[in-house]
Amino acid sequence: MNMRIVARLINLPENRGVRVETAAHSLLLVCSGGQVRAFQADCPHAGAPLEEGVICQGRIVCPWHKATFAVANGAVLEPPALVALKQYPVQVRDGVVSVGDAPLDPAPTAVVDDSRCFAVIGAGAAGTAAVATLRREGFTGRLLWIDRESAPAYDRTALSKFVVAGQMAPQDTPPLLEDAPFDDLGIQGEVQHLDAVAKRIELADGRHFDYDAALLATGGQPQSLDIPGAVLSNVFVLRSREDAARIDAAAESAACAVIIGDSFIGLEAASALRQRGLVVQVVSRHDIPLAAQLGRRIGAALRQLHEDNGVIFHSNTEPVSLDGHGAVGTVLLKNGKRLAADLVVIGVGVTPATGFIEGVSKAEDQSLLADHHLQAAPGLWAAGDNLTFPWNHQPTRIEHWRLAQQLGVLAARNMLGGAQTYADVPFFWTYHFGKTFEVLGHAQHWNRLHIEGDLQRHHFIALLCHDDQVEAVVACEYPQAMARLSQRMQHPLNKTEALGLIREG
Ligand SMILES: Cc1cc2nc3c(=O)[nH]c(=O)nc-3n(C[C@H](O)[C@H](O)[C@H](O)COP(=O)(O)OP(=O)(O)OC[C@H]3O[C@@H](n4cnc5c(N)ncnc54)[C@H](O)[C@@H]3O)c2cc1C
Ligand code: FES
Repeated sequence: MNMRIVARLINLPENRGVRVETAAHSLLLVCSGGQVRAFQADCPHAGAPLEEGVICQGRIVCPWHKATFAVANGAVLEPPALVALKQYPVQVRDGVVSVGDAPLDPAPTAVVDDSRCFAVIGAGAAGTAAVATLRREGFTGRLLWIDRESAPAYDRTALSKFVVAGQMAPQDTPPLLEDAPFDDLGIQGEVQHLDAVAKRIELADGRHFDYDAALLATGGQPQSLDIPGAVLSNVFVLRSREDAARIDAAAESAACAVIIGDSFIGLEAASALRQRGLVVQVVSRHDIPLAAQLGRRIGAALRQLHEDNGVIFHSNTEPVSLDGHGAVGTVLLKNGKRLAADLVVIGVGVTPATGFIEGVSKAEDQSLLADHHLQAAPGLWAAGDNLTFPWNHQPTRIEHWRLAQQLGVLAARNMLGGAQTYADVPFFWTYHFGKTFEVLGHAQHWNRLHIEGDLQRHHFIALLCHDDQVEAVVACEYPQAMARLSQRMQHPLNKTEALGLIREG
C-alpha cells in the first residue's frame, strides 16, 4: 500500500486530534497512550471537523452534535453518526508518521442464524438508528421496516433550519443511512392497527404482518389549532419533508408570515423565514420563549436575538381565528390585534403517534409507557418522541433527535436479547440566525444559574444547578467545553469541577 509521510510524532500532542491534509484524504491523527491512529477527519454525520472536538475517556467526541467514536478503532459509540469513522493504517519510524492511502477493512460482524421476524415501525430518528444497529450487530432474520412517508429516513432537523430558509431543496435533505436507504429495505405504508397481544401489524392498505419482536418508533404528530380558519390554505404545521416543502413553496411569493407558538421549531421557522426576507411575527402565550427548558434569562436572550433580527413578538396572547378567502390573509388575536399573514406556521407541540396501538399502557399524553429496557409489552419496544420511560427516578419523555437515536440503538440491542438501560446525558441543539444553542441534561429542579461569557452577545455557557449540583448546561459557541461535559456529565458533577472543565480551554 502507498504510505505518505504526514507528520512528526513530536508534533502530535497526547489525546488531542490533529488534522492533516494529504493529496488523497483529510485525516484526523490521534496520539493516545503513545499510539498514533489515523481516521477520516470529518464527522460522518454532518461533516464537523473532528479536530475541533475533544478526546476523552477513550472517545473522540464530535464538536457539533456530540456523536462519539472509539479511539481504538473508530467504531461509532453514540449518535447522531450511525457509521464508524474510516480508519487508515499508520506507521511510525524514527519519529516520522506515515499513513496509508486506503482505509482499513472494517472488523467483520459476527453473524448468527436467526429465524425471527423483527418489525421496526417508523423511519425517523429512532427507527433508523435501530435498523442501523440491527444491521451492524449482524441480525439475519426477517426485517420489516415500515413508514408511511414515501421517502423517509432523512434528517428532519434540517427542515426548519435550511429547507424553510430556502437554502436547501426539500429533496436534498440529508439521508440518514447512505448505504442502506429505506427505498431498498423498507415497506411504505401506514400502520393502522397493532395488536400487542396477537403480535400483529395491519396496514391501511390491508397488508398484515406477524412479528416476533417489534419497535414502535412513530414519533409525534404536530398539533393543529381548534379555531376558525385553521384549515385555510397556507396554514402549515412542520414535521415532515412534505410540510417543509409546502412552506418553502408558499414562502416564495409571501411577504409576511405569522408563527403561532414560541416552541423551538416555531422559532427556528421564524429565523428561517426572516432570513429569506419575510416580515415575521410570533404569537405566543408566554413573554419569554423556552423558559422552561433554558430558564428566563437565556430565553430572554434568545428572544432578543430574534428581535435584533427584526422578528416581532406578540406575547401573552393567542389567535382566535385565521381569516381569508381560501387562503389565510390575517390572524386575529385575543388581544384584538389583527396581523397580516400570507402564511401561518403552527408550532404548538406534538401528540405521540400511538393511536393505532392496542394492548399497551399509555400515559395521559398518549405516549407509550415502557420499562427501563424500553419494553412496553412482551415482544414490543418503543423509542423516541412517542415514549415515556423511567430515567433519573421519574417517568421521562424528551423530544430530542440524538436521544431518540440513542433510544433506538438501545431498543434494538434489547430486541436482540440485551438488557441495556439509558445511561447517557440528553443533548439538544437549536439554530437561530447563525447561532447554535446547545443543551446538555434535562433540568427540572434547579435553583441557581451561573453564566460564563457574554449572554447578550450569544457567546456563553450557563450552568443550571440545584444548589451546587449541575443539572443541565446551556451554551452558545462553546463546542469543546460542551463536548467534554457531554462525557463528564454521565456522572454527578458539581459546579466547581464543571467550571474547571469549561476553563480548560
Ligand atoms: C422541523 C424539526 C426540527 C427539529 N430540530 C431538532 C434539533 O435541531 N435538535 C433536536 O434535538 N431535535 C430536533 N427536532 C426534534 C427531533 O426531530 C425529534 O425529537 C425526533 O425526530 C424524534 O424521533 P422519532 O424517531 O421519535 O420520530 P420521527 O423522527 O418523527 O419519526 C417517526 C416516523 O414514524 C412514521 N410514522 C408515524 N406513524 C406511523 C404509522 N402509523 N405508520 C407508519 N409510519 C408511521 C413517520 O412517518 C416518521 O417517519 C426537530 C423536529 C422537527 C419536526
Ligand atoms: S456533525 Fe458530528 S455529530 Fe453531527
